[in-house]
Amino acid sequence: MESSSSEPVMSFRTRKWVRPEDLNANATLFGGSLLRWIDEEAAVYAIIQLGHQRVVTKYMSEIVFVSSAREGDIVEIGLVATKFGRTSLTMRAEARNLFTQQSILTIDELVFVNVDADGRPAPHGYTEITYDRDRVPRGDLQR
Ligand SMILES: CC(C)(COP(=O)(O)OP(=O)(O)OC[C@H]1O[C@@H](n2cnc3c(N)ncnc32)[C@H](O)[C@@H]1OP(=O)(O)O)[C@@H](O)C(=O)NCCC(=O)NCCS
Repeated sequence: MESSSSEPVMSFRTRKWVRPEDLNANATLFGGSLLRWIDEEAAVYAIIQLGHQRVVTKYMSEIVFVSSAREGDIVEIGLVATKFGRTSLTMRAEARNLFTQQSILTIDELVFVNVDADGRPAPHGYTEITYDRDRVPRGDLQR
């Protein structure tokens, strides 16, 4: 799926319900909970895009908390791949309120690296986004 400017469209696939354990002392969504959700979502996205289960977070650019969310809100998490490197994948992330569509957080660059069994960067071999499940790793992870 691409927009008219041929820039890939961000897809919001995961929704999280803000529960009491996700709140900070101000009774709004704790930033650490949101970052955990985004890191996990980005890992899953990277696994699907790179066709390998062993991917690790390398870098996150400036994280902007745009607005807050409250208990009972539903947070949508969106990601889009912006650059395929040799061993890395760069993504852009946004979280927004499902009800109001207001942005909650943005991260311009989130870099994951594909690693081998020894934890060293390994080429993933891909250059473009897939919108299918054609790269989903099959079988057990070789540990
Ligand atoms: C991921 C890791 C193996 C990469 O090792 P490294 O020595 O940085 O490897 P390289 O220098 O070869 O870089 C690997 C890729 O990351 C990219 N990269 C490295 N540093 C970067 C940075 N600061 N910002 C963006 N990308 C970066 C490189 O450009 C390269 O991408 P490419 O192959 O697509 O061009 C190593 O840093 C590591 O194990 N880090 C810990 C990962 C982890 O535990 N994450 C969870 C943290 S909670």
